[in-house]
Amino acid sequence: MSEHHVIAMDGPAASGKSSVAGAIADRFGWVFVNTGNMYRAATLAALRAEVDVNDKAAVIAAVDEAEVGVAVVGGRSVVTLKGEAVEDELKDQSINLAVSHVAAVPEVREKLVAMQRDLLQEHSLVMEGRDIGTVVFPETPWKFYIDASEEVRASRRGLQGQADAVSERDRLDSTRKVAPLKAAADAVVIDSTELSLEQVVEEVLAILGARGLTV
Ligand code: DC
Repeated sequence: MSEHHVIAMDGPAASGKSSVAGAIADRFGWVFVNTGNMYRAATLAALRAEVDVNDKAAVIAAVDEAEVGVAVVGGRSVVTLKGEAVEDELKDQSINLAVSHVAAVPEVREKLVAMQRDLLQEHSLVMEGRDIGTVVFPETPWKFYIDASEEVRASRRGLQGQADAVSERDRLDSTRKVAPLKAAADAVVIDSTELSLEQVVEEVLAILGARGLTV
């Protein structure tokens, strides 16, 4: 048993969960892990190898070859391909469009989930994603699911052109066979549609405090 703790923070695209998770990690002095960036790095590997993202065997081979890694720098996860930091390339529209296909491949998920679990050996974590409370760390007592209306999520994303990709991504992520986006039965669901980032952070801290986890 690791003596470290993990707070799971799941939710759909652009729900604000990354900002909330980062702020909570800072308050506790824990490491913020952005697992979406790990799936994005695997997708970058597939795109760089110029494989068809619907060809599972080719995607698996490209991801294996690319050596996806994750380091912790300044309290944040940083994903690498063969040791090269690739964070700056991960928000590209080409990745937005392809990532749900790569993330639906069970062998890719197994590899990344193992890396996510390994991080807990060394650090306490606030981990954001789609399946953290359901699959990666189902035993953690601290689980949140951050939601928001589709309109608010599209406008928070800022780039109007990305709105379609966001709802299509949610559809694919929620309906895939392996580890679909969904709230764990024991997750606290917070609808952030009408709330500021600070308000969501305060609500999460209040709930954690009531359950005995204080800063
Ligand atoms: O959080 P994000 O939008 O950067 O995530 C990109 C994609 O990665 C998302 O559409 C689905 C996938 N993903 C996943 O399947 N499981 C996770 N734990 C995190 C992200």
